[in-house]
Amino acid sequence: MLVNATNMLLKARDGHYGVGQFNINNLEWTKSILLTAQEMNSPVILGVSEGAGKYMAGFKVVAAMVRAMDESLGITVPVALHLDHGTYEGAKACIEAGFTSIMFDGSHYPIDENIAKTTELVALAHDHGLSIEAEVGAGEVADPAECARITALGIDFLAAGIGNIHGKYPANWKGLDFDALDKIHQATNNIPLVLHGGTGIPDEMVRKAISLGVSKINVNTECQLSFAAATREYIEAGKDQQGKGYDPRKLLAPGAEAIKATVREKIELFGSANKA
Ligand code: 13P
Repeated sequence: MLVNATNMLLKARDGHYGVGQFNINNLEWTKSILLTAQEMNSPVILGVSEGAGKYMAGFKVVAAMVRAMDESLGITVPVALHLDHGTYEGAKACIEAGFTSIMFDGSHYPIDENIAKTTELVALAHDHGLSIEAEVGAGEVADPAECARITALGIDFLAAGIGNIHGKYPANWKGLDFDALDKIHQATNNIPLVLHGGTGIPDEMVRKAISLGVSKINVNTECQLSFAAATREYIEAGKDQQGKGYDPRKLLAPGAEAIKATVREKIELFGSANKA
């Protein structure tokens, strides 16, 4: 069931668990994530970066595919189709295309410009029934005062840097800055907070972040790594050369199963199973 992400994240905040945003790249990714969320009776957010949108031939294609798949697989858990790290233009295009949620990432602009653009997109998103995420503090620890200013615009959830990064964490990573998270949480009126860069954060840190106000956790790289490892194993075992093992439905099956396993693990960790 396609919905915006507002209610699922308010419920997560009040219930002290997190909802996973899993990024999609194609039909297999989408199907694996939807089926796993349904199997676990969990709400889920499908994240689409602008690059992935382009790869799938445009946001309209993505919206049509996700809506049709949601219907034909009989998915009853809440599913939000969300633009990940959107530009101003990309956010507008996704509102048009039928997404149910957008992120406008103006974190690289000076704060006043981020606020001006976010203000405009909040009105547009809400007019169309979409939820909207904003970001401050790109790649750095966010300033609680800036977080408070952007929250006051009426956004639905906030991404604020606390030492998290996308992709694999370097060996000398210091971990999440929980003091900063606490200060941001205090300054932002209990808005659901978003933790980007969910790949490779130790489970204990994820649990602690949820206890301090994080309600949405984004995972992308980890599904890519599990898909790639399972596909490599299949090919290295020569299975693509046995019988009709080269059939894409067979060739991509181990990767699709691996994504399901990763999503299952994350849903368990975030605590959103049986919260649909
Ligand atoms: P990872 O790729 O590190 O999991 O981060 C995903 C993300 O934050 C998407 O916005």
